[in-house]
Amino acid sequence: MGKSALIVYYSRGGENYVNGSIVNLDVGNTHVVAETLARLTDGDLFRLVPVNDYSLNYDTCVAQTQRDLSDGVRPELTAFPASLDPYDLILLGYPTYWGAPPMPVMTFLHDMHLDRRTVLPFCTHEGSEFGHSLENIRAACPGINLGEGVAIRGGRVTNCAAQLTEWLNSHGVDVVSG
Ligand SMILES: Cc1cc2nc3c(=O)[nH]c(=O)nc-3n(C[C@H](O)[C@H](O)[C@H](O)COP(=O)(O)O)c2cc1C
Repeated sequence: MGKSALIVYYSRGGENYVNGSIVNLDVGNTHVVAETLARLTDGDLFRLVPVNDYSLNYDTCVAQTQRDLSDGVRPELTAFPASLDPYDLILLGYPTYWGAPPMPVMTFLHDMHLDRRTVLPFCTHEGSEFGHSLENIRAACPGINLGEGVAIRGGRVTNCAAQLTEWLNSHGVDVVSG
């Protein structure tokens, strides 16, 4: 029996540093990984969309995210998953921002009840991997059952299905398609 998975993620796209230079991503790195996970698990996707998302301009986004992080802002989201009850497993994905989860992810963690839920984290990054984001998640939801995560370098997101499969298998999750 497969486990039913919900893949909840935040991803921004737009201008970003990938392997040291600025590129404009039509589809964000974390979005690419989330879609791959949906395919591998036959899971459902839920994208966290802030009412006012961060700018597509890199420098503006840097200023906005630094301000939200230092002020502890929880940006309003357009929607939440209706219920987590149908799912055995939540896969939670985000780009590492300043070593932390982006603040829209913190909104999700504070407003959904994740006590006793099994959550497997995944992130995309440019070198910090998870940074201290897993400690931030545990501090926000002390009752969470947070499993070992997988960190994918931004430049490798289109070629990570094998790594994701290995990670899912290590958690006893069957992969339904390659
Ligand atoms: C505001 C901002 C802060 C970032 N901070 C970090 C960081 O602390 N460590 C890191 O390795 N990468 C950092 N990055 C790079 C992103 O984590 C990386 O580009 C990620 O793949 C972007 O995912 P997305 O396209 O799904 O939004 C940062 C990027 C932005 C825009």
